[in-house]
Amino acid sequence: MDNARGLPAESLRRKIAELGPWFHNLRIGGIETAPDHFLGDYPNFKWQGFRQVVPEDLTGRSVLDVGCNAGFYALEMKRRNARRVVGIDSDPHYLRQARFAAEQSGLDIEFRQLSVYEVGKLGERFDLVIFMGVLYHLRHPLLALDLLYEHAVKDRLLFQCLQRGDERVPRLAEDYDFSEWSVFDRPDYPRLFFVEERYASDPTNWFIPNTAAVVAMLRSSGFLIEANPEREVYMCRRGQRHYAVPPPPCG
Ligand SMILES: C[S@@+](CC[C@H](N)C(=O)[O-])C[C@H]1O[C@@H](n2cnc3c(N)ncnc32)[C@H](O)[C@@H]1O
Repeated sequence: MDNARGLPAESLRRKIAELGPWFHNLRIGGIETAPDHFLGDYPNFKWQGFRQVVPEDLTGRSVLDVGCNAGFYALEMKRRNARRVVGIDSDPHYLRQARFAAEQSGLDIEFRQLSVYEVGKLGERFDLVIFMGVLYHLRHPLLALDLLYEHAVKDRLLFQCLQRGDERVPRLAEDYDFSEWSVFDRPDYPRLFFVEERYASDPTNWFIPNTAAVVAMLRSSGFLIEANPEREVYMCRRGQRHYAVPPPPCG
């Protein structure tokens, strides 16, 4: 990542340290913000596995990055010439990092402190909404998907979620008789594992779906999966709202 502001390396290093701890390992003026990340060069190594599903040239398009953290994906979208990029996150600590990274890179990105539940306050739909690594941190995951469908996604949703459990996606009947129990014993039946305390030492991991649940929840929220370029990552197109899903309250 470039350093458009031309800060001396020592000042840059000090500022990056002051803004820490970082979850995103960005390169600002050649300095890595989280070189010891437990996942490695995160999220760059992940991005390399699915970057091909995002158009190389986003000229004229608008992008919303929900749960943007320090802005890795927002910055990448602006580098792909997106006309307008907005990043929202509920945590002001990460937004300070994102603003600094964008400023140092000379990229014009708007960052706002908003929860996904407040996405309606933006009053705007975006050609591409990025919703990566947030769903399992929510106590109301379907509400978030319904709000994104209702208020934010004009065309595409790029989605990622931590998944655990069975990785198969079964063909299920649309309906089962009240007396049917055994289908719920199938490990591949859509499941959300509820974490009452912590998973990976993180008390904000609430519902961790298996693969079938991710696919079913996206479909049920009106998103058609067009690509699954790697485990946990889905490119979706906005489709029809499911007949049994009422519009959500204003968000
Ligand atoms: C695991 S990080 C993922 C960051 C980034 N999207 C990525 O994929 O690398 C989760 C992010 O979601 C944010 N977050 C958690 N709950 C949120 C909410 N209700 N609304 C918006 N952002 C939220 C956190 O502050 C954090 O920055």
